[in-house]
Amino acid sequence: MNEVLLKVENLSKIYRSGIAAGGVTTAVDNANFEIKPAEIVALVGESGSGKTTLGKLILRLIKPSLGKIIYNGIDISKLKGRRLVEYYRHVQGVFQDPFSSFNPIFKVDRVFDLIFDSYLKEMKQKKRELIANALEKVMLNPDDVFGKYPHQMSGGQLQRILIARTLLLDTKLLIADEIISMLDASVRVDVLNTLGKLKDENKISVIFVTHDLSLGYYISDTTMIMYKGNIVEMGDTEKVYSNPLHPYTRMLLSVVPTVDRKWEKKKEEELFSLFESGKRRIWNGCPYYDRCPLAMEVCQKKPSLLEIESGHKVACYAAIQSKGSKAEKTFSSENEK
Ligand SMILES: Nc1ncnc2c1ncn2[C@@H]1O[C@H](COP(=O)(O)OP(=O)(O)OP(=O)(O)O)[C@@H](O)[C@H]1O
Ligand code: SF4
Ligand SMILES: [Mg+2]
Repeated sequence: MNEVLLKVENLSKIYRSGIAAGGVTTAVDNANFEIKPAEIVALVGESGSGKTTLGKLILRLIKPSLGKIIYNGIDISKLKGRRLVEYYRHVQGVFQDPFSSFNPIFKVDRVFDLIFDSYLKEMKQKKRELIANALEKVMLNPDDVFGKYPHQMSGGQLQRILIARTLLLDTKLLIADEIISMLDASVRVDVLNTLGKLKDENKISVIFVTHDLSLGYYISDTTMIMYKGNIVEMGDTEKVYSNPLHPYTRMLLSVVPTVDRKWEKKKEEELFSLFESGKRRIWNGCPYYDRCPLAMEVCQKKPSLLEIESGHKVACYAAIQSKGSKAEKTFSSENEK
């Protein structure tokens, strides 16, 4: 099996609307990463950081402005017809509000009909058996599901029914976008454990979108931290949490910075003059500059995401300098280009 399931290369999504930054929002800015089979990646970042946009790009619900998404070696923008249907058999999304995916006047099993009509016509004879199998995989008793109405189920059960629906399709990659944020704490763990089980038993990879670091830590092998459309830190979850390198990650984890400078709030007027330096308020420096207590002059040029230790990358000059390691040499040569 190809060791890389999904590869994202220089991927950007730019929206041209509104008046902020000259009517341009870079929702995803030059993202590069890979996902392996049976890997759970937590995509963490505050509201508006671009998490859903990245998920939608992978699901081909929107087109990239720049860059490529390669699934099993094939550029997904080239997929059409039968090959596109095949892609959707392997790559599926589940979203935040399970209730909105169910029509309250129909029984819950109706959500499976579309799958059989669109993708599994030839399997209709075995429909009930296949649905029952999928429900068991997400730890639901089929007898508790068949014939029930949405209001008779909990949010966690509905969310697991939606995950079961994707399993009918031989899913290899699931985009799970804030799927437990609307659920009660008591059922959150059930849904998280369901994802863990699918990874272990069905070798499914998951992009688990969340703004909650503790949920990300609980479930993921790899963590990607997004800020204003940029992946600012990425690596093995243990490494990112035990040794957060980007000031934004540290802020999220409330770790006092150890880089040899004090946290201090930048003066607003100083920032304002930087942002106003061009006619348009477009900023080409580090996306975290206006909030960063460690900001330096060099940060007015955007830092690249560089490997600072094995399996751990960061886009921050201060973090790279403080390591003073091999990474700094790479950083110097990158910036001499
Ligand atoms: N269709 C659109 N048109 C214009 N701007 C958009 C559009 N969709 C998203 N954006 C902008 O892109 C940025 C990223 O949005 P996105 O929904 O991906 O963020 P998010 O990280 O998922 O946030 P949340 O945690 O609130 O769901 C935001 O600034 C948003 O306003
Ligand atoms: S590159 Fe500079 S501004 Fe950006 S996070 Fe690092 S120190 Fe702060
Ligand atoms: Mg979102």
